[in-house]
Amino acid sequence: MLPLLVLVVLNALLVSALSPTRTVNKRQSAPPNQFVTTDGGSFIVNGSVLTFVGTNAYWLPTLNSDDDIDFTLGNMSAAGIKVVRTWAFNDVETIPENGTWFQLIANGTTTINDGPNGLQKLDTVIRLAEKHNMFVLLSLTNNWNPRPLFDNMTINASGTPIEARDVTPGTNNTLPRNTLSNDYGGMDMYVREFANNSTMHDEFYTNPTILSHFMNYTATIVSRYANNTSVFSWEVANDPRCNSSLPASTVCNTNTVTHFHDVISQHIKTFDPNHLVSSGNQGFLCADCPKLFPRVVPPPPQASPLANVKRRSAKPMTKKRILAERRAALNKARSYQRRHASPTGGLRIRGRWMATETKRQDAEDQGVGSAFDGSSGVDSEDIINVPNINFGTFQLFPDQDNYGFISDPSLPAFNNTVNAGLDWIRRHAEIGTLFNKPITLTGFGLVTQSNSPAFVPFNTSVAPFGPDPTDTQATQTFGVTDEQRDDAYAQWLKAGFTAGLQGMVQYQWTQANLTTVDGTNISPTVTDTGLSPVVTEPGFSPNDGYSLQGVSDSQAQAVNVIQQAAQSIGPDPNT
Ligand SMILES: *[C@@H]1O[C@H](CO)[C@@H](O)[C@H](O)[C@H]1NC(C)=O
Ligand SMILES: *[C@@H]1O[C@H](CO)[C@@H](O)[C@H](O)[C@H]1NC(C)=O
Ligand SMILES: *[C@@H]1O[C@H](CO)[C@@H](O)[C@H](O)[C@H]1NC(C)=O
Ligand SMILES: *[C@@H]1O[C@H](CO)[C@@H](O)[C@H](O)[C@H]1NC(C)=O
Ligand SMILES: *[C@@H]1O[C@H](CO)[C@@H](O)[C@H](O)[C@H]1NC(C)=O
Ligand SMILES: *[C@@H]1O[C@H](CO)[C@@H](O)[C@H](O)[C@H]1NC(C)=O
Ligand SMILES: *[C@@H]1O[C@H](CO)[C@@H](O)[C@H](O)[C@H]1NC(C)=O
Ligand SMILES: *[C@@H]1O[C@H](CO)[C@@H](O)[C@H](O)[C@H]1NC(C)=O
Ligand SMILES: *[C@@H]1O[C@H](CO)[C@@H](O)[C@H](O)[C@H]1NC(C)=O
Ligand SMILES: *[C@@H]1O[C@H](CO)[C@@H](O)[C@H](O)[C@H]1NC(C)=O
Ligand SMILES: *[C@@H]1O[C@H](CO)[C@@H](O)[C@H](O)[C@H]1NC(C)=O
Ligand SMILES: *[C@@H]1O[C@H](CO)[C@@H](O)[C@H](O)[C@H]1NC(C)=O
Repeated sequence: MLPLLVLVVLNALLVSALSPTRTVNKRQSAPPNQFVTTDGGSFIVNGSVLTFVGTNAYWLPTLNSDDDIDFTLGNMSAAGIKVVRTWAFNDVETIPENGTWFQLIANGTTTINDGPNGLQKLDTVIRLAEKHNMFVLLSLTNNWNPRPLFDNMTINASGTPIEARDVTPGTNNTLPRNTLSNDYGGMDMYVREFANNSTMHDEFYTNPTILSHFMNYTATIVSRYANNTSVFSWEVANDPRCNSSLPASTVCNTNTVTHFHDVISQHIKTFDPNHLVSSGNQGFLCADCPKLFPRVVPPPPQASPLANVKRRSAKPMTKKRILAERRAALNKARSYQRRHASPTGGLRIRGRWMATETKRQDAEDQGVGSAFDGSSGVDSEDIINVPNINFGTFQLFPDQDNYGFISDPSLPAFNNTVNAGLDWIRRHAEIGTLFNKPITLTGFGLVTQSNSPAFVPFNTSVAPFGPDPTDTQATQTFGVTDEQRDDAYAQWLKAGFTAGLQGMVQYQWTQANLTTVDGTNISPTVTDTGLSPVVTEPGFSPNDGYSLQGVSDSQAQAVNVIQQAAQSIGPDPNT
């Protein structure tokens, strides 16, 4: 450990000494570090606390021109965004004719592309982020890589049958490569190529050949940017868990996924001691699961001039506590139900309508729910406590995940959705306090009615609410209104920073006026298919259901919500 520490300190000294604008403050005991570090529950950069609003743009390195990347980052920065989260992976099984790719996984080996349509695109993103005084949070692989359904009937303009991504049931719509966040390769692509039993997703975490390939990729990427102060942190993976489109084996559990984080985070630190490392998991909990890294109750925090974020109270997440909370919510809901009996009555529990009249449910029967029982193989409390994991992460996608929230039948559905998010946010803020590490929401979003035709859940390549050609009268019944989205985002952002989150990253940015080139994901064909009916102009960034795009006023409003949140957490101390 000692050589690493010495390196960190040396590096900080070097960077500081070389900085032309640095003035020596003799009273300071240590020179300010331009890399993002942590002090207890806060992020520190240049000697000041950094709390941030961010956005996601997984497609950023695939944009067609440097100008596009430049003004996209410029627009984000103008909205007060300090951190953009994007993919530092783009795995392919065959070399594509056009567009960005980073790693070929084929014929039993891996080949990294460091050419102009390879890692040099990532170089450009990071260089231009620096220009706009922003940080880039880089994810190293993805849990999700469903194979597209092939519609063998599809033909191209010359009449040749082509493999087409079936994005809407029963239709021939095609999407350019890399339009969806889950179309950049990732764990399942390694498993399909290298695993002994290619049907099991979790072989990614345990197969030595796969780990060697992934760790070599990781070493290449993190070494390349080890000295770059515009990299916020390394994210081990987007949404790591036991299962994906490929199922989990029976031996995968929370220890499998936690151990993987321990191995990869140590590996990253040996190649890059300068940057923080985080998980990228969705924040699922497991009060009862055996821990690889049991929590040691920390001593009372020492007074620090930087710790201007006051410590909050936090209770450990025990099964007893979760069951008691669920019982109270169920009792409240039942009592309302008794007073307002309705013919179709029932309680909405974990996304299903449960009849209360015929079968009595109680909290014990229900258990703690999938967000709290470790069934996805994620125990985010064990992961945040991995020694080289520097901050906690979680996500909030109520259209795709269930957070164990028991809806209040006296409230409209939208209010319950908002409240489920508030509950999830506050639980995770408490976990940050408990483990004395910063905690960030790395992705949050709601599908709107106007986005629903383009919405593709992360474990599929099919748009479940796409237009149905057999029913021309079909109306969209899924999603919230644009106004409700903006309302929910504003409430979540406010509650998150109040509760003590150190960063909140909206999913995902939309950019207009991008250069269109055939065969890339920034393509007029995206709009011609009717997948994004509200978009009438070419050159919009990809939409997987969470874009801020819509009528221009609405987009401006959603960006305003983000901007107001950024302003509410105070001006950037370094500008
Ligand atoms: C925002 O994007 C537009 C293109 O849509 C570009 O013309 C403009 O310069 C960008 N603004 C900033 C501040 O970068
Ligand atoms: C894999 O190897 C075969 C046989 O040498 C070759 O034809 C093919 O192009 C290779 N595939 C890739 C993606 O390199
Ligand atoms: C459809 O296309 C896919 C991809 O090329 C291929 O694997 C599959 O065998 C084809 N199915 C049929 C029925 O031709
Ligand atoms: C259709 O696909 C064939 C085979 O890949 C290709 O040779 C042809 O150029 C394509 N036509 C168009 C218009 O893209
Ligand atoms: C796909 O498109 C082709 C050509 O337009 C058409 O013949 C075929 O019926 C379509 N398939 C479906 C499932 O819509
Ligand atoms: C391989 O996968 C199958 C399911 O397709 C499963 O039944 C079997 O146990 C797995 N074998 C190993 C060694 O994991
Ligand atoms: C990973 O890199 C090391 C060092 O270059 C090399 O020995 C090893 O074979 C690589 N692993 C794989 C699976 O290629
Ligand atoms: C980063 O800085 C260290 C120490 O100054 C140096 O040894 C290393 O070569 C640098 N790495 C890169 C990729 O520039
Ligand atoms: C439901 O949410 C709306 C929109 O945020 C809010 O105006 C209304 O007061 C809420 N209703 C209740 C009963 O909380
Ligand atoms: C950018 O796109 C918007 C909406 O499509 C359009 O109204 C505007 O004129 C464009 N701006 C530039 C600078 O091209
Ligand atoms: C690649 O780009 C060229 C030139 O823009 C275009 O003609 C071709 O159709 C593209 N290929 C694919 C597979 O889209
Ligand atoms: C930190 O300070 C240096 C030197 O004053 C400056 O160049 C850099 O932009 C600052 N970093 C941030 C994130 O503000």
